[in-house]
Amino acid sequence: MSCVRTIAITNQKGGVGKTTTTVNLGAALAGMGKNVCLIDLDPQAHLTMHFGIEATTTRAGMYDVLTADTPLTRAAVGIEPNITVIPSVIDLAAAEVELAGAVGREQILRDRITEETLPYDLILIDCPPSLGLLTLNALAAASEVLIPLQPHFLALQGLGQLLETVSLVRRRINPTLKVAGVIFCMFETGTRLSGEVVEDVRNFFASASGGDAPWSEAHIFKTRIRRNIKLAECPSHGTTIRHYDPSSHGAEDYAALADEFLAAFVADSAEQTDRETLVDVRMPADVVGEGDAEPVAPPAVPSHEAAQ
Ligand SMILES: Nc1ncnc2c1ncn2[C@@H]1O[C@H](COP(=O)(O)OP(=O)(O)OP(=O)(O)O)[C@@H](O)[C@H]1O
Ligand SMILES: [Mg+2]
Repeated sequence: MSCVRTIAITNQKGGVGKTTTTVNLGAALAGMGKNVCLIDLDPQAHLTMHFGIEATTTRAGMYDVLTADTPLTRAAVGIEPNITVIPSVIDLAAAEVELAGAVGREQILRDRITEETLPYDLILIDCPPSLGLLTLNALAAASEVLIPLQPHFLALQGLGQLLETVSLVRRRINPTLKVAGVIFCMFETGTRLSGEVVEDVRNFFASASGGDAPWSEAHIFKTRIRRNIKLAECPSHGTTIRHYDPSSHGAEDYAALADEFLAAFVADSAEQTDRETLVDVRMPADVVGEGDAEPVAPPAVPSHEAAQ
């Protein structure tokens, strides 16, 4: 049984920096000695394309992992010594449709991860911009959720729905799931709006701190990922910012984020792993559906945001 630590990088809002963060936080962590596996769970396959991985007739990917019992290690593509990618080489939207009636469909990825002895320290899952079955699989498999946010005036829109989904998955299938933190991406340093949105997000999460909600210990990362064109250029060069331009703001920011991540979360990973190995909850197939327990309401959207 694998005890690898699994983190879902998710926000159903499109274009907020999920893939860029999965790739470059992963690469920065790999550079710090962690053996990292990046899972592309998005039918758009941006992470797979980012690394220039091409579909071949023999290449297995997440579609096969989810629909055909293919082990993760058979789909794994080694990128460099500490980075492995599980690519999306066949449209995962088809998997979502095919699995619609399958028993235990939300827990397939979790089963694949736990049934193998995987050599990774961390698995980062790049989620699609939706809260469908693929994202549910990521939330069921993960111990933590990282939420990238873009600090513009609609940043908090949809966050309540995401947190409700996290809460539901925690109640039904993954009792130790928590929101580890929020990462500001494409940050415009020095603008008033960015400052206001950061304040709103702080208040949003502060109102839940200390309670039972999965986001009550969410860490608002001090490291902000500044807008940096080099980050947008990386995919067309098939590499990460760490190799593409190590002296860029993008490389600096993701290295600082990895430092902050390790300091904030990996210190308690031994304790976390102990808890994970104790929990093996098997639930009926239709776990994510009608509610039978008191939901934990996400905090209200601040008035500044709601007024936009
Ligand atoms: N800090 C940044 N500076 C400049 N460009 C960025 C930055 N972060 C991401 N981008 C660019 O913004 C676009 C959206 O980023 P990304 O693909 O990471 O978002 P996403 O949340 O994964 O999107 P989707 O929801 O479509 O999967 C990409 O073109 C990416 O290269
Ligand atoms: Mg993406």
